[in-house]
Amino acid sequence: MAIKRILVYPEDCLKQKAKPVKIFNDPALKELVQDMLDTMYDAPGVGLAAPQIGVSLRVAVTDVDWKSEGAEKNHQVWINPEFLWKSGETEITEEGCLSLPEIYGDVERPNAVRLRWYDLDGKKHEEDFDGFQAVALQHEFDHLDGKVFIDYFTPLKRRMITKKLKKKYLS
Ligand code: NI
Repeated sequence: MAIKRILVYPEDCLKQKAKPVKIFNDPALKELVQDMLDTMYDAPGVGLAAPQIGVSLRVAVTDVDWKSEGAEKNHQVWINPEFLWKSGETEITEEGCLSLPEIYGDVERPNAVRLRWYDLDGKKHEEDFDGFQAVALQHEFDHLDGKVFIDYFTPLKRRMITKKLKKKYLS
């Protein structure tokens, strides 16, 4: 069990395009995923992408329900995820991110997606998701492309938030 430091935007790794995982069923990959889960639950958060702990690989973990009352932990691991389809219909959700502490804002995204991804053993999966799950997955997988939710804001707002985060957490 290892809780890792969560990078704060605009630290470098959060702005880089992450590399695909090539070797599956691998102890190092399993350890990375375990560290990500430990870090996510400790934070506490509902999703975490590998670049958020400084590892530039296309891996993310989520557990969107565990913080609801009476819910049990039920995590999912997403490796090399790829959207095969996104709905034309969108919805606006207030988002936050462990890498942008205390920053929240509305983001408009497609409200349904079809996803292809791989599990730890390298098995391929395809499934449709909608509602909060679809939004959460898009948020997490943006991290794999070096993108964060404030990239959807105006340049001015983004600059103000970046300045604030730098001053508070990175100086
Ligand atoms: Ni995030």
